[in-house]
Amino acid sequence: MQEPQLTPLFSPDEIASKVREIGAEIARDFQGQEPVLICVLQGAFVFFADLVRELSLPVHCDFIQASLYEGGVEGSERVEIVRDLGSEIGGRPVIIVEDIVDSGRTARTLLDRFAARNPKELHLCSLLDKPLRRKIEVPIRYRGFVVPDRFIVGYGLDLGGYYRNRPGLWSLDDPTTSDRPVPAHPPPPR
Ligand code: IMP
Ligand code: MG
Repeated sequence: MQEPQLTPLFSPDEIASKVREIGAEIARDFQGQEPVLICVLQGAFVFFADLVRELSLPVHCDFIQASLYEGGVEGSERVEIVRDLGSEIGGRPVIIVEDIVDSGRTARTLLDRFAARNPKELHLCSLLDKPLRRKIEVPIRYRGFVVPDRFIVGYGLDLGGYYRNRPGLWSLDDPTTSDRPVPAHPPPPR
């Protein structure tokens, strides 16, 4: 069986230094405050864990799980909240932490949903930005890397549940045009 082609995009070291940069920027911007960082499950869990440990601030961590359901018809996609926050965000500074902004639908839905709860400030942080796929514009206040229109895996991002535990980021050849099945045992990183 042939396996999907993986091309290395960013090494663990490159990711770590980017996460440090973002952490320093957030720490600077929120000096003297206690921001609530919201991890968007599942993909952001690795980035989130690394990011919060770069913050020299008292922070509160919360989690939300969103699922994007693609309709067959353009514009019929909808985002459902599978698991909601455990805490109140009213009056507090909030940063949504995403793995990747693709169409922008998930981020837009979360921004609107959280804005309705009257936080003191509301910002979006995303490790990856895939601007060529954007359908809905969203402001990304803290951004890691801009990536090409490719499916990305590793560092929390999955394809069919695989690759989340890879320490680096990889791009796959287009799985939507590939008739090759997802391998039961993904190939080694390099
Ligand atoms: P959206 O299209 O911006 O709403 O992105 C929805 C979600 O799809 C993201 O938060 C990711 O979890 C997932 N996603 C989008 N693009 C990729 C990718 O290239 N690799 C893995 N997951 C992705
Ligand atoms: Mg996500």
